[in-house]
Amino acid sequence: MSLNMKVEHMHNFHTFEIPTAIKHGIGAIKHVGEEVKNLGVTKALLVTDPGIYNAGVTKPIEKHLKEAGVEVVLFNKVEPNPPVRLIAEGSSLFKQENCDGLVAVGGGSSMDTAKGIGVEVTHEGSVLDYEAAEGKKPLENRIPPLTTIPTTAGTGSEVTQWAVITDEEREFKFNTGGPLIAAYLTILDPELHVSMPPHVTAMTGVDALAHAIECYTMHYAQPVTDSVALLAMEYVSKYLRRAYSDGGDLEARYGMAQAAMLAGLSYGSESAGAAHAMSQTLGGIIPVAHGQCVAAMMGPVMEYNWKGHPDKFAHIAQALGVNTFDMTTEEAAKAAVNEMYQLVEDLDIPPLEEQGVSPDMINRLAKEAMNDPQTVGNPRDLTEKDYVWIYKRCFNLVPKTV
Ligand SMILES: [Fe+2]
Repeated sequence: MSLNMKVEHMHNFHTFEIPTAIKHGIGAIKHVGEEVKNLGVTKALLVTDPGIYNAGVTKPIEKHLKEAGVEVVLFNKVEPNPPVRLIAEGSSLFKQENCDGLVAVGGGSSMDTAKGIGVEVTHEGSVLDYEAAEGKKPLENRIPPLTTIPTTAGTGSEVTQWAVITDEEREFKFNTGGPLIAAYLTILDPELHVSMPPHVTAMTGVDALAHAIECYTMHYAQPVTDSVALLAMEYVSKYLRRAYSDGGDLEARYGMAQAAMLAGLSYGSESAGAAHAMSQTLGGIIPVAHGQCVAAMMGPVMEYNWKGHPDKFAHIAQALGVNTFDMTTEEAAKAAVNEMYQLVEDLDIPPLEEQGVSPDMINRLAKEAMNDPQTVGNPRDLTEKDYVWIYKRCFNLVPKTV
């Protein structure tokens, strides 16, 4: 395999760092008490959502923490697309209860909420002041010891340096992040994933694949992120249909938990891609499920993008299990696009229209996506007109090109 970096990007000063210890195994959750205690935590704010809490998923975690002598304060109010007001509520509870650590149990929303709370309890003002944008303040302090325990295999937030928070006033999802916000520890236990319903397995799994593909092909990619991205793709192609079809398949759940984490690592310190620019701007306007809308967008985005880096798209086809032996690079790149369409079909992902998005919104959505920071770095240059085309493909309003 060639170096896969363009010479102009070799002039950039690249970094890859991860402050998160990654521990995993079937039944690994039984170690959570000792592990959190070893981080110096005596009183943890347990951040989760009502669905996970009512399903009893946090019960054994609370038990293990208490047995190790770690007090637990419950914050089980996490909402999808977590808003600024939720972070404020969590951080005032953290301060009021004198907590000294965070344990997030759930999907990306719970983990990002915990990161946001971590920012507010170690910095002046609101998490809103620390948006990764010009004119805003950079993070200065490490958040309190955060342990992430994902119950889905998708977001990768367990190891990423990002939190995505919704500003309801601006109808805008913003990022805050950097190494200071990352978890201290993540515990991956595939047993926590077996109760995930098939449609959640499907959409979060394709989200993980989208992270791997977008990070592998973005301008900021580097060899270390390429390596984890490719393995994430292989695992998704091998295990996602199995986990979708048989929720209790622990080998498949293990593989998908690894895939999501590896895809999270592939973010490195930057991430970029049209599907995440589109889904993030859309999610600020209407409450779509992130993974589901990313999944519906990935085929059209790859159909647009493959010409930006045919070599890499050909490698994606191989990682997804396509036999490219007799194919030219271009044929293999197009095969990667078609494999994505096939996967989304096999997993019964509903199209955008069924997700409550109207084609009438295309012009606004294209405009908003242009303003998202993840647009820069997409493997093929994008204009508002190009986003309109991608959105039209999502609604089947223009013919397929591969
Ligand atoms: Fe995502």
